Amino acid sequence: MNSFQNKKILLIICGGIAAYKSLEIIRLLKKRGALVKTILTNNAHKFVTPLSIASLSQDKVYSDLFDHNNEAEMDHISLSRWSDLVLIAPATANTMSKISSGIADDLASTVILASNKEIFLAPAMNVRMWEHPSNKDNVNKIRSIGYEIIGPEIGDMACGEYGEGKMTEPEKIVKYIEKNFQNKNNNKKFKALVTAGPTQEYIDPVRYITNKSSGKQGYAIAKSLKNNGFETTLISGPTNMDTIPGINTIRVNSAQEMLNATLKNLPADVAIFSAAVADYKVSKVETEKIKKKDNLNLSLEKNVDILGHISKHNSLRPKLVIGFAAETSELEKNSQKKLLEKNCDWIIANDISKTDIGFNSEYNEVSIFYKNMKNEKIPKVKKSILADEIVKRVVEEIN
Ligand code: PMT
Repeated sequence: MNSFQNKKILLIICGGIAAYKSLEIIRLLKKRGALVKTILTNNAHKFVTPLSIASLSQDKVYSDLFDHNNEAEMDHISLSRWSDLVLIAPATANTMSKISSGIADDLASTVILASNKEIFLAPAMNVRMWEHPSNKDNVNKIRSIGYEIIGPEIGDMACGEYGEGKMTEPEKIVKYIEKNFQNKNNNKKFKALVTAGPTQEYIDPVRYITNKSSGKQGYAIAKSLKNNGFETTLISGPTNMDTIPGINTIRVNSAQEMLNATLKNLPADVAIFSAAVADYKVSKVETEKIKKKDNLNLSLEKNVDILGHISKHNSLRPKLVIGFAAETSELEKNSQKKLLEKNCDWIIANDISKTDIGFNSEYNEVSIFYKNMKNEKIPKVKKSILADEIVKRVVEEIN
């Protein structure tokens, strides 16, 4: 089936020499049955004409934020709501900088800021501009917002230099987006469940045992699953994370509550256990606040192992069960042990003796241990990028 049929694509064309390639993008999208509306930035007018864009897209070209004709017919909010997907190609350093800072000073940047749709960027710029630390920061920020960046490629540039910064070819951009639509279509039949964040095990009405987990990693995984079309449930311990639209989020406190919520939301096709569940709970929770004493002995008992319980369950075990391992030493040995003991398909291990990754960091660095004894390392990246890498592998596995 053609994944582009009747899909509404909003193409934003920025002012760079690669703008001429946007004509080919429109042609390819139209050929595949997409409906295409276009926005030209002021500078884009210097590289391509509205007439050629309108002829190919068979629609009018939008440019001016304060055009009263456009505002009456289709204002900047309607324009962003109309689309199924926004593609910015070419995305210049200037526009990327605006996106990264949330600037809305023309129609293109205002529509992007107002958009609630998936946004893809195909950057095109000189190699020095691409490699400039300011641009790199902008790229990282844009990725962390959840927008996807296609390319750029390495090659000869229009300015005569050679390096990374060349816009990805139109055919490849269109195929990339097509794959995204196909993924969504294929994956919407799958249910995913993710656990995230810490648990709180109460000692008395105001005190509890917990840990440093922020939920960032688990929320990023749930978001990536949702973005890839999965019907996603997130069982979250207490965190400061905002609820992500489109994800069924259930907030719990203790390990027992997390287990109950997990059981209630099975069956699922894939379950990813990233929560830092307290291994112990207090045997008897005091109903009154404990008074200050010279010595206080707490009697602790083992908490239920949620991952182990689910992955050994005869009828409820998801097809793909993925656990995490937080280790301070002997990462490989301990992770392999967890893989076997907890009957997982994969274990994603982070070395939490490193303070710049893992608990409460924006970054993570992991090794994935598979049941077939293979393993692979993913170097330090933003948790959102790691989440996309994990989900990419999940999609390959369950399809
Ligand atoms: O939340 P962040 O700040 O983003 O940090 C992310 C993280 C460091 C918490 C995450 O990357 C991580 O490592 N999560 C697992 C933490 C942990 O509890 O690891 P563990 O090795 O103790 O547990 C192994 C596995 O068993 C985990 O999948 C855990 O969810 C699960 N488990 C553990 C105990 C228990 N009672 N029930 C469980 O399900």
